[in-house]
Amino acid sequence: MNSINSQRKDEHIENYLRTSSFTSTLLEDVYIEHNAISDICLDEVDTSINFLGRKISMPLMIDAITGGGSSSAAINEDLSSICQELSIPMACGSESIALTEKESRESFELIKDKKDLLRIGNLGFERNYKDFVFAKELIDAHAMQIHLNLAQEMVMKEGDNSYHDPLSIIEELVEKFDCPIIVKETGCGISKNVAKKLIEKNVKYIDIAGKGGTNFIEIEDLRNFDMDFSDFYTWGIPTAKSIIDIRKLSDDIFIIASGGIKTAMDIVKSIIIGADMTAMTGEVLNYLLRGGYDACENFLKEINHKMKIIMVLLGVKNIEQLKKVDYKLTGQLKELTEN
Ligand SMILES: Cc1cc2nc3c(=O)[nH]c(=O)nc-3n(C[C@H](O)[C@H](O)[C@H](O)COP(=O)(O)O)c2cc1C
Repeated sequence: MNSINSQRKDEHIENYLRTSSFTSTLLEDVYIEHNAISDICLDEVDTSINFLGRKISMPLMIDAITGGGSSSAAINEDLSSICQELSIPMACGSESIALTEKESRESFELIKDKKDLLRIGNLGFERNYKDFVFAKELIDAHAMQIHLNLAQEMVMKEGDNSYHDPLSIIEELVEKFDCPIIVKETGCGISKNVAKKLIEKNVKYIDIAGKGGTNFIEIEDLRNFDMDFSDFYTWGIPTAKSIIDIRKLSDDIFIIASGGIKTAMDIVKSIIIGADMTAMTGEVLNYLLRGGYDACENFLKEINHKMKIIMVLLGVKNIEQLKKVDYKLTGQLKELTEN
């Protein structure tokens, strides 16, 4: 497995570990208040939610990372086992490589062996209906993500700069596909106007992947020796702003807050300001690659435990109550979401 596509998959992982730019989700501008007389005890706190018709243990999933590279099978094997064990969903990385390179398929197919895992497939907006059917079947997915990664394609040396009409494939998939479609970004966020257009096309799930975490522009820039794109590293919509803007548009859209979600506090705050659930990528990869399987699993268990502690401190015992907690916006987030 040594094609350009497979090499790129490896470089994404390597370069992710080398990225050093810092941007903010602006979740630090969400103020929530301590409840000194909370009467909730830790054992009563229930962090579970329903997602895609199933009960999951907490409002968190592992988002799209990999498939088709030399380290992809090992990463997908570990992450799918951990997610199954913890009863949280997992999305695989883009399956586009599997459309053309047969030998890459195994690194995706192994996810299908995790019978109890809530599995989510992933393809880009440049693909067609038939490709999505193939990708769904490859991992026997319960839902498919369609990723929008325009900034990444523009910075990528071999990126796809041709004209596409993302809304028409999204519309076709939502209308005809036999499982839910999740529209996701890859680190630049979904604006209010984009979300409005998606909702008009009957999209029911948006995975924000906003600014504040993994910087895919930097990841690609580190592979591009022809041009320097470091002046683009701050491009994107902070995750917290995306959540607030999209929730203002609709009570019904299912919002997955992602992009820079690293802690239990990030998850709790995202839900309080309007998300239904959250997703994590970079931080989980960090724990897995730098600490190993147990460190990664323990990190996620700790997140769930800390979520429960924060809910005790807020005086709420389930996610529905958490969604109703009062909050105040401060600083830049307040300024950016005022109208
Ligand atoms: C190494 C790496 C590979 C990724 N590959 C994909 C991909 O194939 N498809 C996709 O939709 N997103 C991909 N992403 C983006 C993530 O799914 C996520 O949207 C983004 O990293 C923001 O979340 P984070 O800040 O928690 O990392 C990738 C991220 C990383 C770090």
